[in-house]
Amino acid sequence: MPTETRFQEIKRYVRLDERDADLLRAFGAVAEPELPRIAREFYDRIREHEDAHSVFTGEEQIQRLQRSLVGWLKRVCGGVYDEAYHAQTAIIGRVHVRIGLPQRYMLTAMALIRVELLRIADRLPSDAPATREALVRILDLELAVMLEAYKDSYVERIEQAARQETRDLGDALAQAEQRYVAAVELAGVIIVGLDREGHIALFNHEAEQVTGYARDEVLGKAFSDVLSVDDGRGTAAERLEQVLAGERTRLVLEACLRTRSGKLRDVIWTWNAAGTVGLGGVVLLATGRDVTDEKARDERSRQNERLAAIGTLAAGLAHEIRNPLNGAQLHVSFLERAIKRNQTEQEMLEATRVVSDEIKRLANLVTEFLDFARPRPPELRPTSLVKAMEHACALVEPAALSAHVEVTCDVPSSDVEFQADSSKLTQVLLNLLKNAVEAGGSAVRLRGRRGPRHVFIDVEDDGPGLPTADAPIFDAFYSTKEGGTGLGLAITHRIVTDHRGTIDVSSRPGKTNFHIALPLEQGAGAAG
Ligand code: HEM
Repeated sequence: MPTETRFQEIKRYVRLDERDADLLRAFGAVAEPELPRIAREFYDRIREHEDAHSVFTGEEQIQRLQRSLVGWLKRVCGGVYDEAYHAQTAIIGRVHVRIGLPQRYMLTAMALIRVELLRIADRLPSDAPATREALVRILDLELAVMLEAYKDSYVERIEQAARQETRDLGDALAQAEQRYVAAVELAGVIIVGLDREGHIALFNHEAEQVTGYARDEVLGKAFSDVLSVDDGRGTAAERLEQVLAGERTRLVLEACLRTRSGKLRDVIWTWNAAGTVGLGGVVLLATGRDVTDEKARDERSRQNERLAAIGTLAAGLAHEIRNPLNGAQLHVSFLERAIKRNQTEQEMLEATRVVSDEIKRLANLVTEFLDFARPRPPELRPTSLVKAMEHACALVEPAALSAHVEVTCDVPSSDVEFQADSSKLTQVLLNLLKNAVEAGGSAVRLRGRRGPRHVFIDVEDDGPGLPTADAPIFDAFYSTKEGGTGLGLAITHRIVTDHRGTIDVSSRPGKTNFHIALPLEQGAGAAG
């Protein structure tokens, strides 16, 4: 059975049949003379309504439409209701939709036509009721078809909006994807994503650059197979297991990776569980920074610093050795000449004494230099502050006596026991006391006290003070004393800092004070 057209379906619904067609045809013949009047009234009524009238472009158009309406009325009463008829009505409907005619005017306008035509039918000598019914049916059918255009246009608009929305959504998605891709690719860091099985699912441009692998070569491969190397700390892949197993959500680790050409690179990775963020199967996302070159640079600069320090030390040492050697050389030549000339024993003895003194100075210098250059770590034992102070004072006593300097040992009222290397502590105190005695004053005071977490020791003299406030007195080979090696204070400083203590100095003419703070417990922090 052929499928029913829409028009056939409407016709069936309003029950418009061949008898109606005949009746309408007969009616048309009778009504024809009145049709121009109806058309006139139709447009007059529209003219009365501002909104309805506003859809027209001018009087000329109205005149034309009046004629069109007469034609339409003839067609309606023409008795031929086929597909061509339907097509024409559908066109009129679409014209109205196109000009933006509100739907309600269709209903009211059709009511007007209906009233006029029924009035004519009522005047028919025969078949008036049946003709009325036929008129109602055909006008309903007209209305149905014309209104269909509104529905079609409405559906069309909705579909168009939906299409536009889909297009917009697609555009937005494409844009978001573009931004995401650009962010990942231009980030300048390695970005790698792993799926649940630990396979590589994301591999950005920087990752390609650092590893030498093309994306296609590694996608889908196990991270552990391609990029992870055991560098003694365990492979990155092993350590990642915790994150993959969900035990941790974030892990920062430094690990080695092997590039495509077999080179090893150090990378600092930050691994994050991707959680619910939609990253297309990526459950673990890592950013990585290749720090290989950075580390090599740091190592080179540390090496350079070490070399520079050794150079400075060597220069200082050479200078210190040359002086006594020159002195000794001078006196050996003198001895030689004296022996040749048979000079007095006294003069020769004096020369040998100078040579011997210079050699002792050299030996002393070498010992101190080794002390400084190869320090032993302090051997920490419970140490008595009072004992260390008294021992140092006793040791400096002879030097103090011959320099006519009075040394006062100001110990705390009760002894303090703290963790220190007692022999090194004595060395520190002795160094400072000796310096103080030789500083050119007449009184030296060694003072020791206990603080809440530290032992404080002060060595004070009343000499003329340091030449300048910022003299590098703790640097190796800096010395203001005639015959000093310039290592005493450098060694003192090192011993104090080896004990995690601090030493500083304040100096003005008549009062120079070295202040030491040593922690009571070696676990404690800096002085305070
Ligand atoms: C039962 C109601 C109506 C019928 C049967 C009817 C019939 C027609 C016909 C036959 C045309 C000509 C279509 C074509 O160009 O092929 C038309 C166009 C038009 N009608 Fe109606 N009409 C009706 C209601 C209205 C109403 C209420 C208004 C205004 C308030 C109106 C305004 C127009 C306009 C502006 C045009 C377009 C003319 C153009 O394209 O220049 N119509 N109508």
